[in-house]
Amino acid sequence: MGVVGVIDLYSPDTYVNGAPHEEFTRLRREDPVHWQDIPGQPGYWAVLRHADVVHVSRNPRLFSCEAGGVVLEDLDPERLARMRDMLLSMDPPRHISYRKPLAPEFAQRVIAGMGEQIRLITREIFTESKKLNDVDFVHDVVGPLPTQVIGQLFGLPEKDWEWLHRLAQMNTSGQDPDLNPDGDLSEAGSADSSMQMAMYGMASAADRRASDPQGDLMDVILGQEFDGRYLTDADIGSLLVQMITAGNDTTVTMMAGGLWALLDHPDQLTLLRNDPALIPSAIEEILRWFNPLHYFRRTATEDVVLSGAHIRKGDKVAMYYTSANRDEAVFADSQRFDITRSPNPQLSFGIGEHFCLGVHLARLEGRIFFEELLTSFPGIALTGKPERVRSNLNNGVKRLPVRLCP
Ligand code: HEM
Repeated sequence: MGVVGVIDLYSPDTYVNGAPHEEFTRLRREDPVHWQDIPGQPGYWAVLRHADVVHVSRNPRLFSCEAGGVVLEDLDPERLARMRDMLLSMDPPRHISYRKPLAPEFAQRVIAGMGEQIRLITREIFTESKKLNDVDFVHDVVGPLPTQVIGQLFGLPEKDWEWLHRLAQMNTSGQDPDLNPDGDLSEAGSADSSMQMAMYGMASAADRRASDPQGDLMDVILGQEFDGRYLTDADIGSLLVQMITAGNDTTVTMMAGGLWALLDHPDQLTLLRNDPALIPSAIEEILRWFNPLHYFRRTATEDVVLSGAHIRKGDKVAMYYTSANRDEAVFADSQRFDITRSPNPQLSFGIGEHFCLGVHLARLEGRIFFEELLTSFPGIALTGKPERVRSNLNNGVKRLPVRLCP
């Protein structure tokens, strides 16, 4: 069962100083579907090659989301039931009937209409940053942005955005004692913060039903059938949790991780400053290099052999985007950060049925963010040591101390 004595891919500590890329490279070569133990519960197969991650993603009947959820830990029946009701963890055909009514709202053309609002939010944030000069880029600058955008998409009152942002952060950074001092550090995600967001979403849906439509996503959700029925307020609460959670830390990582990568590669930053038309391709390279999520999990529904590994029915299978994005079989000079890379089939948004619903929104936020950042601040420099979130799932940035010079 795999190579003995290699790094522990499960331990959140493994990722604190950056993903173990040397080990991933060796494993892709020697043991590309690698068995990893988990203390006190069944371990899992870590799928490390790009082609194998694509294969698992594209075969939802063989590799189920619903059977055991999408995180590595065994969940108690109540949490598993809640997770199964999330789009991210549904299997076909239910998944398709839930996703179908939402997809048009997240289409590129529709999302492009949010560009001006996103630019305004970004500019407001940078106006505040200009007063500070020395900032923690994660908390003082990018942190609140994605929740504000989702808040706007759903038509939620502005006064609630900051509170929602804090809940979202707790929900996805539960393994880091700094970010979740009272939480259960063994599990990815906090039930408590999810519950508070869900209750808030329920109340918001009820309020909207009782008032006039505003032409936003909330109205669309209230007026559409999902899987042959209209959603209840509780369903909408759950959907809001999913949107806020899915689009919060991931987007923050794209922005903060992106700036960190550019500061670490000054030649690439200069290239980008000299040619802002490269921003869309730089975003793709940032996502490849600093993918916001390390993995998502599936459960095998049959015995299957994958790159020589004998996976048994019921085994956990984790698709490691972090490794797939550096696969030398797909990316030339894969350990080089190159903002002109083309083609760039990075897997940070997944692929197949569950391909990120918010992909156009995330790319638009990223593009506008870097356009505004580079024009607002001709000088940006690190002023201390950046720190990562302690997590085996979120490849997040916890602190990025920088000086922003307007
Ligand atoms: C850089 C930012 C983002 C990254 C890296 C990211 C990444 C991902 C990944 C890896 C998946 C799962 C793919 C799979 O299982 O095959 C996913 C699904 C999803 N994402 Fe994102 N995401 C980002 C931003 C967003 C935003 C802004 C939103 C919404 C506002 C969003 C909403 C969703 C939803 C609803 C799903 C579930 C789709 C489904 O299961 O059909 N994401 N995302």
